[in-house]
Parts: sequence; structure tokens; C-alpha cells
Amino acid sequence: MSIQEIQQDITRLKQEKNAVILAHYYQVPEVQDVADHVGDSFALSKLAAELPQPLIVFCGVSFMAETAKILSPGKTVLLPVAEAGCPMADMATGKDVENLKKQHPDAAVVSYVNSSTDVKVLSDICCTSSNAVKIIRSLPRQKIIFLPDKNLGSYVAEKVPEKEIILYDGFCPVHEEVMAIDVKLAREEHPGSLLVVHPECNPEVRDEADYIGSTGQMISYINQSDHDKFIVGTEMGILHPLHVSNPGKKIVSLTSNFVCPNMKKTSLQNVLESLQQMKNRIELDETVLNKARTPLMRMLALS
Ligand code: 13P
Ligand code: SF4
Repeated sequence: MSIQEIQQDITRLKQEKNAVILAHYYQVPEVQDVADHVGDSFALSKLAAELPQPLIVFCGVSFMAETAKILSPGKTVLLPVAEAGCPMADMATGKDVENLKKQHPDAAVVSYVNSSTDVKVLSDICCTSSNAVKIIRSLPRQKIIFLPDKNLGSYVAEKVPEKEIILYDGFCPVHEEVMAIDVKLAREEHPGSLLVVHPECNPEVRDEADYIGSTGQMISYINQSDHDKFIVGTEMGILHPLHVSNPGKKIVSLTSNFVCPNMKKTSLQNVLESLQQMKNRIELDETVLNKARTPLMRMLALS
């Protein structure tokens, strides 16, 4: 079957089943193109809660589909590839949160949505890369346990110096391995470009950046800028919407290694099979679902 034929079948089945397809900016271009909504993790979680369709096909990784299910427990949420996980989300467990709470009983627990449901259950509030600074600044507690991402955590600590932020040692393996030398090489190859990076990058890369933001914020920044050359420091799936919206701008990836293998597991064929067979439903224990909803709803209320 050609890409167009698969896309047509997906569109037909989607209408028949009253489904909505959500895709993250890191998905392959043909999956982004078949989606009803493409966004960053905050925008997609908000949409999952608000959209009327009873069936969500979530093209992303497992924590995103679980977040959609937690926010819309009455809906069926499908993750086209069950093995599409996030190594950073797996780095912290509920036990880790319990231990940190024992060590710092006066601290509030803020978890990045890139975390397991067990971690969310024990968190006071969640955040995404688009709202972490705002959320932490707004909390009444002075001491904050932040997990799992030490890089987003250290970025927030720089922006909110009035808070004491206890960092956990988690990281995104895709962003973490990009270094200042990659920035130097990219700037030499593309002189005059602005460097736009994700806060999951480590501090030596962030320190070189002209703009730091979530994937959605990076896209808005580049779309609205009068500048015509950009180096982009995040997973290269983001180049697809950027190139579509900015045909006159030169937009390149900071390194050719900026690929999240988990985000790239989902093919168009997987999306079709997911709709045909209704497979890989997200199933979570009801008590867990209810407990994990509170920190996510608090995030949505504050954003
Ligand atoms: P966003 O919150 O910017 O969509 O990023 C999600 C993610 O997984 C980054 O690696
Ligand atoms: Fe997880 Fe990193 Fe992939 Fe984002 S890019 S899904 S944080 S492994």
C-alpha cells in the first residue's frame, strides 16, 4: 500500500470510529500529516482532556498516552506501538519519590510529565517543559523536589532562584549527549543562525542558546521571528512542521544524532493497525487513575 492509500484508510476508519489522532512533533512526517492535532506534550494533554471524541489514537510515547488516559478516563486511548516508551520517564520510580519525601518532608513534589504514572501519583503537581518555570514559581512551598529531569530542573532553578530545588539524577538520553562542541561545529557550518534549544539539553548547550523553550514554544519563536536562519536543538521531527510553516527560512538540526528512537517507532502502518484492531489500549487501575489526575489537573488549572 502507498502512503496515500494508508492515509486514506486511516481517515476513513477514524471517521467510522469517531476517533481523533494526536501526534507529537517528534513523530515521523507522514504520521504528523495524518494527525488531527500535532503538538507539544502540554498542548496534547490539554486537547486529550477537552476533545469530544471517545477514541484517542496517541502517536507519541507511553507517558503521553497514559497522561491522556488519566485526564480522560472515560475515553479509549490507543498507543499504536506498545513498546514506544521514554527512557527518562523510566528513570524514577514511586519508591524514589517516597525516599526523597522522607529526606525532605517540607518539600513539594513537582514531576515533569515525562514520568511514570507511579511518580505522578505521589506528586503534588505536574509540569511540562512549557510551564515548569511558571508552575514552580507559583507554588507556596520554598523547597521543591523536582524529578526526573535534572536538566529541566536546573533550568528552572536558574529561572526561579528564590526556590530551593532538589534535583533528581534523570535525563533524556537523546538531549543529554549533545555537547557544546556540537554547538561550535553547527555555528561554524551555519554562521549567522540563531540557536533555539529545548530545556532538556544540558547546561553547556543551554548556555549557548538564543532561545530556550518547549517544542511548541520553539516553533512559535521561529515562526514569529524575522530572522531567517536557525539551528534547532531538539529531536529532529520538529523540523517537519518548521519547514512547512517557514519555506523561506533555513532551519537545520544542531546535530544529526538528534533522533529519539522511541518516538520514531510509530509508522503509518502502526496507526492503521491500531485503529483496525483497537490494540494497545492504555489500561490503568482506577485508584491509580484517580490519584494521578489531581497533579495533572492542578497543572492544567495553573497554565
Ligand atoms: P515537549 O514537552 O516540548 O513536547 O517535549 C517532550 C519531550 O519528550 C521532549 O523530549
Ligand atoms: Fe523521552 Fe527524550 Fe524521547 Fe522525549 S526525546 S520521549 S524525553 S527519550
